[in-house]
Amino acid sequence: MAMDQGLDAFKNESVENVVDASKKVKVGIIGCGWIADSHIKQYLQMEDVEIVAGADLVPGKAEKFFKDHGVEGVRCYPSHKEMIDNETLDAVSICTYNCQHAEPTIYALEHGVNVMLEKPFTVTLDEAVAVMKAEKKSGKILTIGFQPRMSENMQMIKRIVESGELGEIYYLQAGGGRRRGIPTPFGTTFIEKETGGIGAVGDIGSYSLDMLLNAVGYPKPLTVTGYTSNFFGTDPKYYSAHPEYAEKFGVDDFAAAFVRLEGGIILDFRISWAMHMDTCGDALILGTKGGLRIPSTDCWNGEFDTPLKVYRNVGDKVPMCYEVPMIPAKTSFFYQKIRSFLDEVKKPAGEGKPTVPSSQILYNQAIIDGIVKSAELGREIEIEIPEI
Ligand SMILES: NC(=O)c1ccc[n+]([C@@H]2O[C@H](COP(=O)([O-])OP(=O)(O)OC[C@H]3O[C@@H](n4cnc5c(N)ncnc54)[C@H](O)[C@@H]3O)[C@@H](O)[C@H]2O)c1
Repeated sequence: MAMDQGLDAFKNESVENVVDASKKVKVGIIGCGWIADSHIKQYLQMEDVEIVAGADLVPGKAEKFFKDHGVEGVRCYPSHKEMIDNETLDAVSICTYNCQHAEPTIYALEHGVNVMLEKPFTVTLDEAVAVMKAEKKSGKILTIGFQPRMSENMQMIKRIVESGELGEIYYLQAGGGRRRGIPTPFGTTFIEKETGGIGAVGDIGSYSLDMLLNAVGYPKPLTVTGYTSNFFGTDPKYYSAHPEYAEKFGVDDFAAAFVRLEGGIILDFRISWAMHMDTCGDALILGTKGGLRIPSTDCWNGEFDTPLKVYRNVGDKVPMCYEVPMIPAKTSFFYQKIRSFLDEVKKPAGEGKPTVPSSQILYNQAIIDGIVKSAELGREIEIEIPEI
């Protein structure tokens, strides 16, 4: 799907709504930009949701956002702080750019509000640790917005690994990536250092890491040798309509890394927003009894579109390969990601669990952070994760 088609591809999906509407969840939206559009479209389909407040740093943006979506009576604020200070909320969607993930999330958790935080978790490992300390203290739910987790085909990857069909896993290869897909359809918040903080490595790299690491139980990362570059983003010729974006580009548009994980697993990683290649290839999982080929995927829309392939031997020696039949999606993954969060929020205090827990994504963030630091230093580094 072309980037400039944006999230419109998901706007006409209708869903079966079987919820207990007698208890309404009071929701606020922080950051009223591109992805907030997807969040509000899902909330508006849910009978047990009352959208009571919204915030955006840009004056008038929140007001226009709710008006455009035909939602009346929503109180709008100039930042997450004013909103949380003045409202009684059950949950917030945090849809701010990467450099504003940690602060509003900590503030919401400290004020007893459950959080659906967009990916990537944060920009740095230190921020992720600070968020998790606030989460632990609050006892509230924090879930990270990786919608591919909702795909049954994606879930199949983990099920195959857990079935033992592949034996002991020793090697993971990340694939995917874009030939020409620096995300600037609605502005420059992804590409500026002050707002995006990190580029392809965090934006789509976090999906790619989540797909593989979740499948193998999120082993702790130990060391990383990382590389990042920005040859395309900083070239005015890349941008047909906005050559001035090259001046603003302050993040990576390509990253590669060699990561050692606990349990003797090697992760061979690469990701791209832009390169002279159609894809970095399929993702691979190699085990002592079998291998799994996951078709090259951009991940953000949640899926791959050709079947998984399992490679095994028949008996000791005869190589064979079979395809895993694909399962058609019943509802939008964007809907399911919000719905699964709210279902947990509605449970009695202390019983709700995050669908995508920070305890897993901490390791995802540690790898991203390690790639950035190792690339800056030009050498391998040990990944040190502080106590939480
Ligand atoms: N899950 C997905 O498929 C998906 C898709 C796109 C973007 N994202 C993620 O969503 C996040 C936002 O991306 P986007 O494209 O919507 O960005 P955007 O720039 O379009 O919107 C972000 C908005 O947040 C506002 N904001 C920032 N800090 C704020 C604060 N403290 N209080 C209130 N408002 C604040 C900004 O003014 C801006 O309007 C990014 O982290 C991105 O990685 C996820």
